[in-house]
Amino acid sequence: MPTNLQPSTFNYLWWQTAVIYQIYPRSYKDTTGNGIGDLRGVIDKLDYLSQTLGVDAIWLSPFYPSPMKDFGYDVADYCDVNPMFGTLADFDELVAEAHQRGLRIIVDWVPNHSSDQHPWFIESRSSRENPKRNWYVWADQPNNWLSVFGGSAWEWDEATGQYYLHSFLKEQPDLNWRNLEVQEAMFNTVRFWLERGVDGFRVDVAHFIMKDPKMRANPPAKEGLAFHRPHGDYDSLSHENDKGHPDTHKIYRRFRTLLDEYSQTAPRMAVGEIHIFDWDEWATYYGTPEAGLEFHLPFNFSLLKTPWEAAAVRRVVDELEAAIPDWAWPNYVLGNHDEGRVATRFGPEQARLAAMLLLTLRGTPTLYYGEEIGMSDVEIPIEQQLDPFGLRVPGWGRDRCRTPMQWSANPNAGFSPEGSATPWLPLAEDWRAINVEAQLEDPTSTLSFYRQLLAIRKENPALRQGSYAPLEGMPEGCFVYQRSEAGQTFTVALNFEPIPQRLSLNGKGRVVLSTHLDRLDKGNLQSFTLRKNEGVMIQMQNAQ
Ligand code: GLC
Repeated sequence: MPTNLQPSTFNYLWWQTAVIYQIYPRSYKDTTGNGIGDLRGVIDKLDYLSQTLGVDAIWLSPFYPSPMKDFGYDVADYCDVNPMFGTLADFDELVAEAHQRGLRIIVDWVPNHSSDQHPWFIESRSSRENPKRNWYVWADQPNNWLSVFGGSAWEWDEATGQYYLHSFLKEQPDLNWRNLEVQEAMFNTVRFWLERGVDGFRVDVAHFIMKDPKMRANPPAKEGLAFHRPHGDYDSLSHENDKGHPDTHKIYRRFRTLLDEYSQTAPRMAVGEIHIFDWDEWATYYGTPEAGLEFHLPFNFSLLKTPWEAAAVRRVVDELEAAIPDWAWPNYVLGNHDEGRVATRFGPEQARLAAMLLLTLRGTPTLYYGEEIGMSDVEIPIEQQLDPFGLRVPGWGRDRCRTPMQWSANPNAGFSPEGSATPWLPLAEDWRAINVEAQLEDPTSTLSFYRQLLAIRKENPALRQGSYAPLEGMPEGCFVYQRSEAGQTFTVALNFEPIPQRLSLNGKGRVVLSTHLDRLDKGNLQSFTLRKNEGVMIQMQNAQ
């Protein structure tokens, strides 16, 4: 198979220098006209992704057979494609076409739970004597564990007279990872996708898989939040026993060994969804060279929970840099299919600043589809809401960030062909103005800004893999840092406030990009003004 996947320069691995772009397949591009996106839609957009935008890897949220109770995170077959999204042949074509363009493919792996319609669970619940009974977590009595999606984490099974555990919906029973057969079967599903050529995995709620073997009750919450924002009853308990048992690490060491076995031909990676906000505990998910490595990247969600202020954001970056060992690689993310969109959280000007931050910090950035055109959250009337989380826990609805990608001013925003079924979620009201086609024509658009930002990052090793050093003595409200590598230095200066700020920087330099897209000045930086909400990247002139 012809491929453009060259080893990256400077011995950095692709997942260190790559920009990852998350696609929620239901919402990206519908080629069949059923109002739901599909894999052929992603294939159609590969040139956009690799050339027009300039990202390096795509992470596809689940496209597996599923009753869609949690929109695909309830997997009924780990080794197939849901006909709604296409076929395995479409998937193979997607991998081949992506690789030809130098794009890597990361798929979602959902180890904590399957669908209740997975044949394993159907067998497991068929009788207490079934050989797969112990593939899930059954108990005579429920303890006080709660479901992330509200209510008890235990569901009574009338037919066999026991309760089963579900950390999410009752249609998402938790697999019993203490059972070696489950481990083997699940690792086989990983092998299946590795054999098909995928470059990596995003591991769903990775830290949930191992619970306290004695199933002890959770104590009342001491302090802090279970997730990064208030989460109702779930926050009333300290989640000591229902997830993150130390044995979890054994599993991910095995997982890593498996990925490494397949990395001889092409390096594979895994990024784990880890909602832990104690840095030391979070960093344990990298593993250690002595005990064994685990995730290449445990997702760092700290920017989602931090107030959008210069000092607070700087603190997060400095804490992360201090928390990880020298050999570990950082990463950042500002949005995904579970979170409010950046443009809505911070407003359009600060959203550009956030993008400049994300794409110039040391580490691997992950973008969420639509961020590049400044897509906003869509307020969806309750009667049209579909997300079970939001319907059960007020305030946690995720439909608003999953609306169809806005490609053009054509009918259905170019997401579905003209005359199609109504898209599965309503379009944002602004789609006629905010769409890829319109923004490609406008040199001042958010898309033009992202394209330049990504191109500058790609061309300059200092930005992809250089060191990070925050600058002291900057005005309150500004976060300023430098990235350097092999004689090249960039200063990134970000004004988080809606007032101008005067900076005093050493040396000379040239502005290579402003979030306002209207300046390329150069000279002495002794007295440098950032306009309100402005971020700039300055390429420093080397002192001779
Ligand atoms: C993760 C996914 C989320 C899903 C949940 C249960 O948090 O990102 O979308 O609902 O796991 O699988």
